[in-house]
Amino acid sequence: MAQIIDGKALAARLMEDTQQGVADIVAATGAPPGLAVVLVGADPASEVYVGRKISQCRKAGITSIEHRLPADTAETELLALIDRLNADPAIHGILVQLPLPKGLNAAAVLDRISPDKDVDGFHPVNVGRLSTGTGGLVPCTPLGIMMLLDSVIEDYRGLNAVVIGKSNIVGKPVSMLLLEREATVTVTHIETKDLPDVARKADIIVAAAGAPHLVRGYWVKPGAVVIDVGITRITDHDGVTKIVGDCATHELDHARAVTPVPGGVGPMTIACLLANTVKAAKMGLKR
Ligand code: GUN
Repeated sequence: MAQIIDGKALAARLMEDTQQGVADIVAATGAPPGLAVVLVGADPASEVYVGRKISQCRKAGITSIEHRLPADTAETELLALIDRLNADPAIHGILVQLPLPKGLNAAAVLDRISPDKDVDGFHPVNVGRLSTGTGGLVPCTPLGIMMLLDSVIEDYRGLNAVVIGKSNIVGKPVSMLLLEREATVTVTHIETKDLPDVARKADIIVAAAGAPHLVRGYWVKPGAVVIDVGITRITDHDGVTKIVGDCATHELDHARAVTPVPGGVGPMTIACLLANTVKAAKMGLKR
């Protein structure tokens, strides 16, 4: 039986560290860290994610300031809001929820966020820092994935890691983090040939393709560690809606450890966002 890596428990532990970090900042400055959350339009999934982020901020003692803008907001108006947030000393982290509505250029918007307040780690300066191993703010989901892996793997040197998906949010940054630990990393994607054969060589699989139950039992070598980043909402034959991951977890008894969906990567992502906000606030204290 594979070990189930408990993301909820790990996230709860990280939350305690964050609460301590918030207390340190309050002691040093008299005020808690502030996170600005910008939501443009009314994408239903984004509404749910933003709601969760804000409620977790409250739990951690972080002040969250929500900015909801209509879907037809002009790019100049959104950029002006980011300029104001960049200049606001009470704001330590800025998060613009993606995807943005059509007509808004996400790259231009992310570029405008001060790298020091970029708690998503999406600004090109932070992407560069990550790829050169020179610090900076690291994207939340990859950071959470590494903490989940660290709970079962001590030494990554020479391990084969196969990342399925090459997104800027998960696939590329998690590959950089695995490379930094001296794993041998293969990044795969929709055009990869013989993906099951590639996956079968992996000691670590990070499945971030957004394809429900893509990774089957025969793709996974006995003893591999499998991180499932997928969250797809499906409705079964009985009309019951549920969230499924990228892995057929019921076929993975021979793995060493797997993350569940839900309750694996998801809780860690939000916990890491809060941890990044505390980190950004502490970096601000040093400047
Ligand atoms: N949309 C999906 N994942 C993310 C994330 O990690 N950050 C932001 N800002 N938007 C997202």
